Order: sequence, then C-alpha cells, then structure tokens
Amino acid sequence: MLKDIFACPECLGKLSSANGGVRCDRCGKAFQEREGIIDFYVPGGKGPNYSTVLSNIEYYERAAGCYDNRIAGKKMFQLNSDARISGIFSSVASRKTNGVFLDVGCGTGKVMTIAGRYFETCIGIDISPGMCSLCKKNGFSVHRASADNLPIKNESVDMVSSYALLHHVADPRYMFREIHRVLKKGGYFYTDNDPNFYQRATLEKNLLYRLMRRIYNAVSEERFLKKERIKKEVRDTAEYHHFKTRGLKTGELEDALREAGFGEIRIVPHGDVKSLEKNSFAHCPWYTKINMVLAGLTGFDFTYRRIAPMFLIMAKK
Ligand SMILES: C[S@@+](CC[C@H](N)C(=O)[O-])C[C@H]1O[C@@H](n2cnc3c(N)ncnc32)[C@H](O)[C@@H]1O
Ligand SMILES: [Zn+2]
Repeated sequence: MLKDIFACPECLGKLSSANGGVRCDRCGKAFQEREGIIDFYVPGGKGPNYSTVLSNIEYYERAAGCYDNRIAGKKMFQLNSDARISGIFSSVASRKTNGVFLDVGCGTGKVMTIAGRYFETCIGIDISPGMCSLCKKNGFSVHRASADNLPIKNESVDMVSSYALLHHVADPRYMFREIHRVLKKGGYFYTDNDPNFYQRATLEKNLLYRLMRRIYNAVSEERFLKKERIKKEVRDTAEYHHFKTRGLKTGELEDALREAGFGEIRIVPHGDVKSLEKNSFAHCPWYTKINMVLAGLTGFDFTYRRIAPMFLIMAKK
C-alpha cells in the first residue's frame, strides 16, 4: 500500500525501503522512519507560510500532550461536528469502493476515527512529530510532512480532509495545489471549522465580546501558555488566521481553489450544525447562537452566512 500511494516529496520519485526508512530511487534522498512514522518533512521556504510552519511545529510540540483534553475533546467547541463529518463522508463514500482517505493536519486522528467507517484505507499526515506519535498510538497510519509538500503520488486519493487546518496556514494556495494534485479525478476535498472573517471582524468591534475574550484569556488561555511554556508570538503565528488575521475570507478561498484546478466548489458558512440539509440559525447549538446574536447586533445584520462563526468547504476535482 505504501508503494501505491507514497512518493518522494522532493521529486515524486519512487520510494524503496532503505536502512532505517525509505529512499527515493530518483533523487536519492533518504527519509528516516521511527516507530512506524516516516519523516517526510523537508525544511525550507520563505515568508509567512514558512514561519507559520515553524511556529506550528514548536506550538504542537508543546501542546500535543494536552490536545485531546483541551481542544479536540472539548465538547463545547464541537457539539455537532462528529454528526456533520459523518454525514459528509457517507455521502461521498457511498459512491466509492475501496476508497483511499488522506487526512492532512490529522492531529491525534479524530477525523480518521470517523473516516474509517467509510473508507478502506486512511492515512494521516501532520507536521508535528508529537501529534504524529499520539496519532500512531491511537492506532492510525500516519507520517510526518507539510500540507504544502505531500509525499503522495499524483491522483492516488479519493478524499482529502483537513479539519481545522486552514487557519494554521498563512497562504493556503500551495496546500490547495498539492491536495488537487494528489486527488483522483472526481475526488473530494473537505475542510471545516475555520473562522469566518466576516463574522469575526464584526464581533471584534463588540465591547462585550472583547470583555468575554479577555476573561477567557485570563482564566484559561494564558494559564495554558504558561504551563506548556509556549510564547505568545509562537501561538499567534501558529494559529495564524485566529490571531494575525481575523479569520479567512471565503471569497478569496474560492478563487484560490479555482486557481488550483477545482471545478465544483461549495463553501458553506455554518454555526456547528449537525447536517448540511439543516443549516440555519435554528439548528445551531446554544453557544454559537449567542455568538451569532452578538455579531448580528454589532453589525445590524442578521444574515446567517455573515454571522455564522465558521465555514466548511467541499471541492471536487
Ligand atoms: C487544530 S489541529 C487539528 C487536528 C485534527 N485535524 C483535528 O481536527 O483534531 C491542527 C493540526 O494541523 C497540524 N499542522 C499545522 N500546520 C501544518 C502543515 N503546514 N502541514 C501539516 N500539518 C500541519 C498541527 O500540527 C495540528 O496537528
Ligand atoms: Zn526524490
């Protein structure tokens, strides 16, 4: 299976087993394997994208140990995400047999737990060695690489997901090109749980919201940073579109996806709904409703797509 899907991230050459890992038959580059995880990460690059990658490596090396408890396990932030993801995967997978699923920025493997019900093969990719280790311990097949330099053959994957990854990538255009390259024709790219710029920019003007954020920072976030010895600047650069910008602009993402070659692109702002069939204010859980009412009152605009705190994307190759 490894040989059918993986390729050298530098030149896409064929990989062969070598002492302690794999080696590219074409360029000769060797990639080390430890505890079943091959390190395909190739350092290098310029600009905000590369500093974001470096900050993510540092941030998640420190935050990995408490990720499942603090973030992924926190029900308040994801009351309905499992049901939503399940519905989306089942609608895509029912048209496939023996599908290959690739989870980019897989973290500890939360999304692959769901994907495993619908796809025969699931592979995780993450930039953080600590997150890769935890993912492996959770029983998944995972290797280390960056989203914008995938060690995957052209047109070898049926579905790619990158849940809660986009806001960690300063310029997602490179990542979109890579994902388009590895998808088979007709394959889907799914991404979700990233901040909607239009809503966030409005909320930032609200004094009550700013006060609530301050209280949250004081009682939770700052304690966490101190305990895990994470510098604020590292967190801010890693969580790029939470702290360096005020979220992602869906219009810009649509242009970037089209430029990468995607044909059918569906971008859906939402407030953590269970299913895309029932996507309206009424179907959102209480905590996003509070958030949306606050944004609506601040901007004098209650249009759902403008007050929805997050968005998902389904793009077809
Ligand atoms: C918010 S977590 C999401 C993890 C997982 N998808 C989930 O939903 O629980 C973001 C993950 O993306 C990874 N990551 C950040 N930048 C990356 C990059 N350029 N390439 C691959 N993974 C990256 C981090 O190490 C982290 O595990
Ligand atoms: Zn090579």
